[in-house]
Formats: sequence, C-alpha cells, structure tokens
Amino acid sequence: MALALITEQLAQAEQEALSALDKAETSAALEEIRLNYLGGKGVLTSILRGLGELSKEERPKVGALANSVKEKIQVRLDERKAAILNLEISARLSQEKIDVTLPGFGRKLGNLHPMTKLTEELTQIFYGMGFSVEDGPEIETEYYNFDALNTPSDHPARDEQDTFYTNMGDHVILRSQTSPMQIRAMEKGKPPFRFVVSGRVYRNEEINARKFPIFHQMEGLLIDRDVTFGQLKGTLNEFIRLLFGKQLKTRFRPDFFPFTEPSAELDCECPFCTGSGCRTCGHRGWIELLGCGMVDPAVLEGAGIDPMEWSGFAFGVGLERLAMLKYGINDIRHFYTSDLRFLKQF
Ligand code: DAH
Repeated sequence: MALALITEQLAQAEQEALSALDKAETSAALEEIRLNYLGGKGVLTSILRGLGELSKEERPKVGALANSVKEKIQVRLDERKAAILNLEISARLSQEKIDVTLPGFGRKLGNLHPMTKLTEELTQIFYGMGFSVEDGPEIETEYYNFDALNTPSDHPARDEQDTFYTNMGDHVILRSQTSPMQIRAMEKGKPPFRFVVSGRVYRNEEINARKFPIFHQMEGLLIDRDVTFGQLKGTLNEFIRLLFGKQLKTRFRPDFFPFTEPSAELDCECPFCTGSGCRTCGHRGWIELLGCGMVDPAVLEGAGIDPMEWSGFAFGVGLERLAMLKYGINDIRHFYTSDLRFLKQF
C-alpha cells in the first residue's frame, strides 16, 4: 500500500516540477523550483522520508524510481537554464546599446615628482663627469653627522633646536646633512673616491616659504692625489653650465664649514637676468648655490686616510632651493603638500 502511494507521489512531483520548469521565465524562478523539488528540504526529500515504511525488497525499487525522477527534473532544469540564459542575454543586448562614437576615457599618465626629476638630472650630470652614486642612511649617529666631520661638541648645529634627536639611542639623530656619507664611504673603501650622494635631510626649522624641516641635499666628494681648488672650481663651473644650459659667471666667497679648509660659498650669476638684477635674485644679480671646500686634513685622518698622500674637495647643495630656481617655484611647501595642481606641472 505504502509502495503505491510513494510511487504515485513521485510521479506527481515529476509532473508538477516539469510543468513548472516549462513555465518559468527567469533564472531566479528556475532556482526557486530547483530548491523546491531537489533541495535538502524539498518535495523529493520529504517523499523519500516514507521509505522507512517499505519492506527490504521494495526500497531499492523506490530508490531507483526516485533517482530517475531526480534525473529527469535535473535534465529539464539544465535545458531551461540554457534557454533562459540565452533569452536574458539577447534581451540585455537589445536594451543596452553601446555608442561606439563616444569619446573614450583616456588614462592619464602620472609624472615624476620635481624633486625626483632634479635628483636624476644632477646625478646624470655628475655621472657624466665620472662620479659614481652612493646611498646612505637618513637615521644617523652624531658621530658621522658631526664628530667625524670635525664639528666641535658645542657647535650650534648640534643644538636640539636645530637637529632632531631620536629615542633610538643616546646619539642617534636624523641626519641634518648628507655630509656623513663622506665619512661612511671613506671608512668603507680606499682612495681615490669620486661620488655623489643625495637624499632627505632633517632640521628642526620653523616652516615658512623658504624653510621646511625636511629637504634634500646632494653631496659630492672627490679624493685623489694632488687635488687642487682649481679642480673644484672647474667641476662646479661645469656643473652649473650643464644645469642651466648656459655659461654663467660664478664667484667663490670665503665661508666656514668644520670639515673643509678652505671653505667657500658658491654664487652664480642669476640665470634669469644674467646679472642685471631681478626679483628672483633679489636685485643682487647673484644667487647663492652651495657650500664647498677642500676636505680638512683632520677629516681624512679620522677616516684613516693619510692627508700627506691624499687630498680632495667636497660640496653640498640644497635641492629644493635649486629646483625653486630652475623651475621658478616661490614656496618650498609646494614640494610637500601633494597638491596635484602643482605636481602635474612637471
Ligand atoms: N653640509 C653643508 C650644509 O648642510 C653643506 C656643505 C658645505 C657640504 C661644504 C660640503 C661642503 O660637502 O664641502 O650646510
């Protein structure tokens, strides 16, 4: 009796499922039917719950029947799925028209930061004069940043108001100049040396249009036999010619740096008014470019190099100042505010 009932229920479920599938018009409706008949809580599962009432011989028969019903429903489901998908695609295709005549959304190319561009340009210039390129740490020790550079312990630059001290150790600071790389390189290698090194330096400055606590420097060091101040002048004059694309007059004013003797500040004729005076040069006709000098024998000695055999020159230039000059930028803060209106101009 139970056998006849279950067989009947299965046949009826098959009928209903197939006709529902035939009527369904969307993928969502198909899915609903699938769950309703084939799902874990669906009609077939609940019919097969009655299997327990059947005898051992009857059970496999009903099992086989149930499998064939399942299969038929599944086959019809797959057919309807494919058909409905096709319909849905053609419906979308006829609705969504693409206007191939509309202008495209161009992908905008970015550009290098002006500081990166200038660094690359300077590096290229010095590379062309036979200088190699070194790299050094921004977190430095007082030893490399000051002591080894012949800077007395009471020098005002060491003051906390000028230099950033860290909590990473007693004498660990953010480098205030790229000059410490002179020492690191000399300790590591053997003369002759001829390299530039550039990167960020940090000073505890009040921020205004000309000063910012982070800025960039490029440092150069040349150590060889019988190096003269004339060679320093020749190198820097050539650098300025290549940088501004024309021969500009230069002058070397005496200055003081602890690690060079003699030391000089290099001015060049204002590239904008060629010396006659304009706003950029403050009507002076000259522009201060960089510090330089002959490496102090005490610095060489400290790095284990015999000053009787070797001599050399060094220079250090602030890159923001140079970029402001070269590109006509009036405020150093532009380099650090990530304003696209500024950055896109380079
Ligand atoms: N380090 C110096 C500064 O930050 C710049 C400088 C001057 C570097 C003279 C040098 C040099 O190598 O010879 O003010």
